[in-house]
Formats: sequence, C-alpha cells, structure tokens
Amino acid sequence: MDVELRGITKRFGPVTANDNVNLTIRAGEVLGLLGENGAGKSTMMNILSGLYAPDEGEILIDGKPVRFEGPGDGIAAGIGMVHQHFMLVPVFTVAENVILGVEPTGRLDYLDIATARRQVRDINEKYGLQVNPDALIEDLPVGIQQRVEILKVLFRSAEVLILDEPTAVLTPQEVEEFFGIVKSLRDAGKAVVFITHKLHEILAISDRINVLRGGRITGEGDPKSLTENQLAEMMVGRPVSFDVARGPFKPGDTLLEVNDIVVLRDNDEVAVDHVSFHVRSGEVVGIAGVQGNGQSELIEALTGLMHVSSGEIDFLDNDITHASVRERHRLGMAHIPEDRHKSGMIGNFTIYENMVLDSYYEDRFSNGPNIKWPEVLRTAAQYAIDFDVRTPSVYLKADNLSGGNQQKMVVARELERVTKLVIASQPTRGLDVGSIEYIHGRLMNSRDEGDGVIIVSSELDEIMSLSDRVLVMFDGRIVAEFDAIAGPLDKNAIGLAMAGVAA
Ligand SMILES: Nc1ncnc2c1ncn2[C@@H]1O[C@H](COP(=O)(O)OP(=O)(O)OP(=O)(O)O)[C@@H](O)[C@H]1O
Ligand SMILES: [Mg+2]
Repeated sequence: MDVELRGITKRFGPVTANDNVNLTIRAGEVLGLLGENGAGKSTMMNILSGLYAPDEGEILIDGKPVRFEGPGDGIAAGIGMVHQHFMLVPVFTVAENVILGVEPTGRLDYLDIATARRQVRDINEKYGLQVNPDALIEDLPVGIQQRVEILKVLFRSAEVLILDEPTAVLTPQEVEEFFGIVKSLRDAGKAVVFITHKLHEILAISDRINVLRGGRITGEGDPKSLTENQLAEMMVGRPVSFDVARGPFKPGDTLLEVNDIVVLRDNDEVAVDHVSFHVRSGEVVGIAGVQGNGQSELIEALTGLMHVSSGEIDFLDNDITHASVRERHRLGMAHIPEDRHKSGMIGNFTIYENMVLDSYYEDRFSNGPNIKWPEVLRTAAQYAIDFDVRTPSVYLKADNLSGGNQQKMVVARELERVTKLVIASQPTRGLDVGSIEYIHGRLMNSRDEGDGVIIVSSELDEIMSLSDRVLVMFDGRIVAEFDAIAGPLDKNAIGLAMAGVAA
C-alpha cells in the first residue's frame, strides 16, 4: 500500500505545525523522518493516522483520496501508529491488550481470547516479535511493551506502521532487536515511517530520509550517501558540533558524600546494594550501566523520591538521607528526572507554571501568601528564550509543546536557578542534535562554574563525552570506576563492566 500526503497544512492557533507538506510513503520501504523539536513530525503523523484533521490538503491511499474522521478510520484503512507513550492497560495480558477495542465485524460476533492468542502467536512468528501472549503488561520491560504496541497495529491489519521515536526508551541491545523487527516488516511489504533524533539510527535503517523544518519538508536524501554532519545541518540549518567543549579540570571540595546506602524496591528486592561514592565541586561524574541495574533507584534516593533503608547521604555537610525533596532543592540540588511526565512536569499546567513548579515559594516569586505573577511570567519567558523552548507563548499548556520542547522546559527550570549539584538523568532524551549541543554546553558550564554534576544516561557516548569520572553500576552495586582525566576513557572496558565482567 502506498500513501501520499498532498499539500497538508495544520495550524494550532498562531502556530503552523505543518505547512503545505507533500510526502510519499511506499510499501516495502522504511522512510526515516528527521527534524528539530517542534518541526511538526508528530503532528504530521497524527494527521496521517486520522487523529487530527488537516486544515488543508488531502491523503491518498494507492492514488485514491481518503477522509479520516478519527483514528478508527486510519487503522481501518491500514494505517497504524505506535505513539511514544504507550497506551496499554498494565493489569491486562498481552493478548487482552491486543484485542481491546476491536469491534466484532461481519459474521464473527465475538472475538474469543483463544483466537486472539493464536493470532498473536502467528504475528509473533511472522515478524520475530517474541512476545508471550499470556504475560501481564506490568511485568514486561519497556522494549517488550513497545512490541505489544506493534502487535496491536499488526493485529488490526496495518499496512503502514508509524513509529514515533520508538528507540528513545530502548537500550542499545533492544535497539538492535527492534531494527530486526523493522526489517522483517519491510521485507513483508509493509511501509514503515520511523522518527528518531539519533542520526546513526536513521542512517542505519532507512531506505529514504525526509527532513522537516518549521513545518515544511526541506530536504530529501539517500542514507547511503549522507553523513551525520550533513543530516544535522539539513535539520538545524547550521553546522552542529558533536564535541563538548570543557574548561580545565579543577575539582574542589566534596559536595556529595554517599556512604554505604541500600535502597529497596516496593517488593523488597535490593535495588541499590551498599553503594558509596562522592562528587566534588567542578566535576562531572557519569553513572553508566545497562538499564535496570539500580541507577534509577540510586538517583531517586539522592533526590528524595525513594526511601533509603540504610547508609547515609551527606550534601554540603548536611545529613539529607531522609530529607524532603524541597529541603534538598533549597540546599542547591537540581534534578532533571529520567521520566519527565512522571516527575518533571504537569501537562495540564501552563508553561510558566511548570517553569516555577519547584520554586514558586521562594522569595523571588512569592511574598508570603501571594505569588508575584509578573515576576514568574518574566522569568518563564526568559527561560524559554534561553533554552529555545519553541512556543508562541508561555501561557500555553505544557501538554501542547512538542516532546522535545517539554524536555527543554524541564531542563531550563532545573539549570536556570542557582545550584550546587546538578543530577541529570537522561537529560537529552528526545532532543534534536542542536538542542543536545546546547544542553551539553550548559551542563559543562555548571561544572566549569564549580557545580558538581551527576549524569545518568543510557547512551554510553553521552556519558563518555561529558564525564570526568565514570562509575559503572551492575546489579545494584558500583563495580568499576574510570578516570577520564588521566587519559581517554576505554569504551570497551566500560562496556565489559556494564555487562558484569570483572576487570
Ligand atoms: N495539540 C496542540 N495544541 C497546540 N499546539 C500544538 C499541539 N500539538 C502540537 N503543537 C505545536 O505544533 C508544533 C509541532 O509540534 P510536533 O509535536 O509535531 O513537533 P515534533 O516535530 O514532533 O517535535 P519533537 O521532536 O519535539 O517531538 C509545535 O510548535 C507544537 O507546540
Ligand atoms: Mg514529536
């Protein structure tokens, strides 16, 4: 099935998210879609899948114009979208999720679970998905949940699959497996639209690349002949540097001292197993590890989101082991959380409210019972300018920002105030290359100005390019430490430590 978007325009108030877009999607082909945060990629795909109606233009399937009145029409026509935020029911099984909402049609007046399980097995086999139909969603890692979303649209006979930043939440190993699935979909004649901000991924998997800027298609290219630098420039409109500039290494006093802490998960499993380390002023400490080895829990313990069972955390000579989030914040701790939707923002609040979510009570924004709104607005507008949060106004709800711009809003709030220690988890998740360059620069500024910085990232390259020192977590413990000052970091050795192989 071939699909064509012709002259598509979509406006949200003053924003033209898609501006006369023409795009062709062909059966048996992976189309890579690239563009800055807010360029209009998700909007375009929401139109293609029937979620939004365009203001102008039309969609043609195999040459015939179609009209979608809602997402049901999109999937009925064979166009299925896998959103970045999964829409699965956690307490249901895979098979139950897959059949959810499929209306009985024709002679078949009900769809029994046995049939669903059989069909799930067939689809599994055909595309190498390897998902157990009887598993509960809540027990599955993110990478497998994503496959369930893919299963769902295949079950509904999708011929065109739209994958909006599917790799943002995957580990490198999961990305490899995911690419295998994408290839088998393509080889079976499906059309795949793949959105990512990772240039090496788009070069590795696409047959054709389209670049979007300011709502328009500004470039089309062949992944065989394009380089990452060329792609970056096509996207951002200027050359992008992938190297992080850093000042001389001048570590100062110890700011954070973590002493033998143990953190338990809800089910009493040990997540952080007697971990000790310190962070000094003026240094970046990277925490590497395969997802699920205790990094998230360690960060939640440091920032006051998880309880510490034993051991002690000292910050600026205060025992903060059991201190509240606000106390830590007051002492100068900034936190960029790994999951911005869970603990970084309130989508239903305006951008300006989100910008002061953790500081509205401070003297600069409050005089006792009253919030100084003009000051809040002025500050929020300035933050948005500094961090290039693309929005016509800070009065907009945060939910209406594009994914990457939501991330920039959270990072701006955390980095713009006076801090001593910046704890950044996946700080550039979902950001375009230009924004990554800027955020990396800001993190380095914090370090050069004497802050301590902790970076957790699933991208080993990101950790290696930012850190002065790298700690590796495996199975809840810190199993290795690498010094980036003495000489270049050894990626292989870090990788081995991450895999639990003792040096
Ligand atoms: N529901 C909405 N209401 C108002 N504005 C919106 C809405 N959805 C998107 N926009 C605006 O449309 C523009 C394009 O957003 P879109 O989400 O398509 O960008 P994107 O290319 O997917 O970016 P990202 O890489 O950050 O995900 C942005 O300026 C965004 O703020
Ligand atoms: Mg998007």
